[in-house]
Amino acid sequence: MQMPKWLARLISPIRQWVGKLNLRRNIGIDLGTVNVLVYVEGKGVVLREPSVVAVDTTTDQIVAVGSGAQALIGRAPANIETIRPLREGVISQYDVTLKMLQYCIRTACGNMILPPRVMVCVPSGVTEVEERAVVDAAREAGAGKVYLMEEPVAAALGAGLDISAPVGRMIVDIGGGTTDIAVISMGGVVVSESVRIAGDKLDEAVMRYVRRQYGVLVGIQTAELIKQRIGALYSHKQVRSVEVRGRSAQTGLPQVITLSSKEMLEAMTEPVSAILDAVCSVIERTPPELLGDILKHGIVMTGGGSMIRGFDQLIQKVTGVPVRVADDPITCVSRGTGIALRGYKKLPEGSINLARARRDRL
Ligand SMILES: Nc1ncnc2c1ncn2[C@@H]1O[C@H](COP(=O)(O)OP(=O)(O)OP(=O)(O)O)[C@@H](O)[C@H]1O
Ligand SMILES: [Mg+2]
Repeated sequence: MQMPKWLARLISPIRQWVGKLNLRRNIGIDLGTVNVLVYVEGKGVVLREPSVVAVDTTTDQIVAVGSGAQALIGRAPANIETIRPLREGVISQYDVTLKMLQYCIRTACGNMILPPRVMVCVPSGVTEVEERAVVDAAREAGAGKVYLMEEPVAAALGAGLDISAPVGRMIVDIGGGTTDIAVISMGGVVVSESVRIAGDKLDEAVMRYVRRQYGVLVGIQTAELIKQRIGALYSHKQVRSVEVRGRSAQTGLPQVITLSSKEMLEAMTEPVSAILDAVCSVIERTPPELLGDILKHGIVMTGGGSMIRGFDQLIQKVTGVPVRVADDPITCVSRGTGIALRGYKKLPEGSINLARARRDRL
């Protein structure tokens, strides 16, 4: 039943005043394998940290969370363990994820009177058990109400796409643990694929390449640095190179080598091919009408992995569809999760379907 106009007018100043008191916040969390980002309604992205937690194994106490914990990787004494609590987009260590979420919610909301409504994104291929773990962890960490949203839908919203129209839009979100590809229309996913191959697998491929080609062992962080500095997947004129320090697999002694961006496609061929196959498989399954829209509007890439030079050009060449990388691709999902909660006051907890919520005016 609709409220009478006179009553709405009467209570509107009270509502505004209560709103200013900031009793409850809407927050969106991109609980990623590599990075965790928190978006607070009205403020934007307020927290962006590596998904790493350092634990003192003798006392079971948390020593550091985020960049503080990442700085300890490989440099801490034996009693300090650095943990990445998410693997391939889903929670692999519940208790540690819980601590990380507590830290995120506390940092984002401070001492709020009412617990926040929290939207967390999950890869589109998660199981019910994996979803349950996210809801339980967020609630235990201090969320009032917890909603889940598919990562590519959040990415599309965050990239500024109008996903409510009956027009096909295609998103390729390449994170650290998962690549989520989806065709979205009217706020819902029409075709999707989530593969557990993304940035981390590219780092491993670089590590293997350096060993195979030069007989040199490098750590995973060095491999990630190589990927970020000189990673390139399409022919390019401006060749870059990087000096890498590792250990000779033969002598066990330190060795310095120079790698060129020209070698990167070969180094990352295997995981990159798997991502391309997944993109093509989504296109093959897309209904023809929507495919026409996608040809017109192009594919939008988000996630940290989309920043590898030439990835967009490679996808464009293989699929024949124009491709562009979203602005600030790493924050798209978190911005999208925050945006999604706007305007919906009575959403039921759990996985949300924006198309249905709009239809039912929740
Ligand atoms: N400039 C860059 N060039 C290439 N890769 C990059 C760059 N910056 C970040 N990355 C990569 O992006 C990945 C992290 O991206 P992102 O933060 O989107 O992942 P995530 O959301 O934590 O993971 P997921 O969504 O899979 O759970 C890492 O593999 C990182 O190496
Ligand atoms: Mg992500």
